[in-house]
Amino acid sequence: ARAQIGVTGLAVMGSNIARNLARHGHTVALHNRTTAKTDALLEKHGDEGDFVRTESMEEFVAALEKPRRVLIMVKAGDATDAVISELADLMEDGDVIIDGGNSLYTDTIRREKEMSERNLNFVGAGISGGEVGALEGPSIMPGGPAEAYESLGPLLESISAHVDGEPCCTHIGPDGSGHFVKMVHNGIEYADMQLIGEAYDLLRRALGLDVEQIADVFRDWNSGDLESYLVEITAEVLSQKDAETGKPLVDVIVDAAGQKGTGRWTVKSALDLGVPVTGIGEAVFARALSSELDQRSAATDLKPGVIGEQPADTDAFVSDVRAALYASKVIAYAQGFDQIRAGSEEYGWDLHPGAMATIWRGGCIIRAQFLNRIRDAYDENPDLKSLLLAPYFRDAVEEGVESWRRVVTTAAGLGIPVPAFASSLSYYDGLRSERLPAALTQGLRDYFGAHTYQRVDKEGTFHTLWSEDRSEVEA
Ligand code: 6PG
Repeated sequence: ARAQIGVTGLAVMGSNIARNLARHGHTVALHNRTTAKTDALLEKHGDEGDFVRTESMEEFVAALEKPRRVLIMVKAGDATDAVISELADLMEDGDVIIDGGNSLYTDTIRREKEMSERNLNFVGAGISGGEVGALEGPSIMPGGPAEAYESLGPLLESISAHVDGEPCCTHIGPDGSGHFVKMVHNGIEYADMQLIGEAYDLLRRALGLDVEQIADVFRDWNSGDLESYLVEITAEVLSQKDAETGKPLVDVIVDAAGQKGTGRWTVKSALDLGVPVTGIGEAVFARALSSELDQRSAATDLKPGVIGEQPADTDAFVSDVRAALYASKVIAYAQGFDQIRAGSEEYGWDLHPGAMATIWRGGCIIRAQFLNRIRDAYDENPDLKSLLLAPYFRDAVEEGVESWRRVVTTAAGLGIPVPAFASSLSYYDGLRSERLPAALTQGLRDYFGAHTYQRVDKEGTFHTLWSEDRSEVEA
């Protein structure tokens, strides 16, 4: 037995992680359900490092030094359970199973419990960065027992991205916390992409810029506050021409957005936790609406009722959209971090938001300059009530709020959908409002269901006798 780690599941993510491990000097045992993928990897990249080829799960497990470490890179769901059960039967006390897929965190909680009952360490690790990240340095979010991280951590940290010498990998917390944090990361990824889409749509439909001009705007935005991987690749995608038609590629792609589930899971979890993640929610719903192609084509002749005009000053409006994008992005992250805090409380995970911001600065899909600022904000005040209240973000949003309102107003006037921009602005207005109409909601609930209410001026719970003399009683 000589391999420090084994990787089973050698589709593109698995084989790129295996190569990354080997390139960092680790001996990697390889396993795949069919040996064709193993052989393809060895044939193309076998000289990149030290690999051990295995054909069966028995041979694979026998190739590993103890305590054994196996990284599972198969499809989330039943396939993951099947591989775990096969592996667990062959492993011994203290061995470590790492699930590097996009697993649902509640599955990870269950699996960790099952494995710990068998004296095995189970590490649910979120891995972000796509194919290139897996090979060149992803952001890694491992949960599970702290003692498992002691031996595993240095290995994972060695292959992760690094920013200013710091690894984009840290022990997140117990059981399902790593996959929970990865799920919220993906939710933020959805919101980020939706906001970018709305900005693009406004530049195109409100200002009439062409796709190449918009690509230039994004290229320009990819410096300063908005500098991020997603803004960078937006310019790339918009610049791409279709070889067949000569049109911008974006104009020949069907406008129906797919989704594999992590965004939806984020929103479901947020509903259960009672955390308003409006930006992420609108992003998931916008993808759903886009996919209703039949319904949409039946509805294209609905009256637009436009009441606005194209903004007169192009440069000024571009700059407004930039500010709206930034402010809405701050809201999406503030909401995502609220969900991380709520999840941490619900499950007793003791998560540190600053640590999440640190490991998201590089490697992952949402990597961005401004994560440095989020980290600073939590360094300064770990108990921050909302990211929005950290001085830096507060200033940034307050500086852009008029622009943000102009953008949402213009979009509404012209009939251009901006669900994420608009809902983020409403969230901001809701959060800062001294009084909300929730008082009326409470009155109505009390009227029809005797659900009671609290008063602003004294302690206690009250009910009005609506169907009697309408006097108030203490409930
Ligand atoms: C990442 C990505 C990755 C995957 C998404 C795509 O962090 O590397 O988030 O996990 O590309 O799951 O999700 P959808 O298919 O749902 O857009």
